[in-house]
Amino acid sequence: METTTAIVLAAGQGTRMKSAMPKVMHTISGLPIVHFVVQAALEAGCGEVVVVVGHARQLVEDYLRRAFPGERVRTAVQELQRGTGDAARVGLDAAGKQTARVLIVNGDAPLVRGEDLLAVVRPLDEPGSPAALSLATCLPDDPTGYGRVLRKGGKVVEIREQRDLRHEDERAVREINAGIYAAHVALVREALSTLVPNNAQGELYLTDVVAFASSAGEGISTVELAANVLAGVNDREQLAEVERTMAERIVCTWRRAGVTIRDGARVEAAVILEPDVIVESGAVLRGVTRIGRGATVDVGCVLTNVIVGEGAIVKPYSVAADSRIGARAQVGPFAHLRPDSDIGEEAHIGNFVEAKKTTMGRGAKANHLAYLGNGIIGEGANIGAGTIFCNYDGFQKHVPVIESGAFIGSDSQIVAPVTVGANAYVATGTTVTKVNKIKCVRSFTEVDTAPVGTA
Ligand code: UD1
Ligand code: CA
Repeated sequence: METTTAIVLAAGQGTRMKSAMPKVMHTISGLPIVHFVVQAALEAGCGEVVVVVGHARQLVEDYLRRAFPGERVRTAVQELQRGTGDAARVGLDAAGKQTARVLIVNGDAPLVRGEDLLAVVRPLDEPGSPAALSLATCLPDDPTGYGRVLRKGGKVVEIREQRDLRHEDERAVREINAGIYAAHVALVREALSTLVPNNAQGELYLTDVVAFASSAGEGISTVELAANVLAGVNDREQLAEVERTMAERIVCTWRRAGVTIRDGARVEAAVILEPDVIVESGAVLRGVTRIGRGATVDVGCVLTNVIVGEGAIVKPYSVAADSRIGARAQVGPFAHLRPDSDIGEEAHIGNFVEAKKTTMGRGAKANHLAYLGNGIIGEGANIGAGTIFCNYDGFQKHVPVIESGAFIGSDSQIVAPVTVGANAYVATGTTVTKVNKIKCVRSFTEVDTAPVGTA
């Protein structure tokens, strides 16, 4: 497959989406539609993938560069969206010289997998009677809106778009063109050069390549794929339908790998779950979240780009983003971990605790009602209820340090920058302001190192 170039058609605006964003950038299970198509082409082993971009192309280009760095995925620009045939020509012009054959794929069908694309290419290698052109078809219950595969004596002669169908017999044809084609590069090049916009939309139709191949007497193969693999996204309803199928596919894959996912949980495509993980109803796992072996994500949690260690428990209705939760740690219920929080192994974060950019050592605890901003908390430290890290003086953020084993009594304010020393004891209601290392603070009235800030 190295000499096969995939051309992904993704330049259209997607008028039916009624959106300022190009269609292929709308997300399915957390990733843009075009991501899945490019991924499938790479999985199929294509040597290069040329994505034809046009409408709002900067967005698509930027995304592809980030998601697929390296040589194999490139973009080509179709300045004016003059139809799928024109888009294919733009893609072909950008293909490398080594290209022997092309696999052209609509960029708006995210359920397609590498194995499906391979199945479409295979007839080109059929021993004895290799096809010159192969295309994917399917038999949906309702073919309305798709291009129909028209046959004569069983042989494919043409694809006719919905708007160009001439009579009831043609409209009754259930076999549709799925928008995936494989062919030798010479045939495609020649066919594309003959295209004319003689159709209801006044566009250059890639599908006319089929009539060209047929009248040239070339062998055309069709590969029937399941309807739910080929569904294209043209409007928001189809977006929802395709996402339902994708979501089901994702949870089935993880269930087969030994994960319990209750109904009603949502797991995005880039999430990784290890065996014996339990994901309860209403939990939403987003972005590049990874849940370690045996960990539980309880009801209603929302985790975005979070790494959860083995055996950790994230209790109901906790929200975390861009953070790490260590092995066997416990977080929640109703906890909020904001970006760059790193909760150590066996540490506890209880209800109504908010952490932001805070590192918590192994076994440290903040069990109730606290704000932990920009902090460094040592192993085994105990942060009492109502503690606030005053990390912001109105101008800058500062770092409060609580060394290992320190005890912070309830309702204390730790005014950063400040370091509370290892095993220090801060009594309840203290406002700690001194930069000096505090060894032991019995209560705020006794302390000269910690001026009282309370009224
Ligand atoms: C197309 C097929 C139709 C098939 C259906 C399968 C044609 C003429 N019709 O119809 O036979 O049943 O797919 O889903 O090909 N695009 C460009 N540049 C353009 C126009 C489109 O890059 O100038 C891209 C779009 O971004 C999209 C893809 O090509 O990803 C398909 O275009 P779309 O307008 O969705 O074609 P359909 O009407 O769905
Ligand atoms: Ca389409």
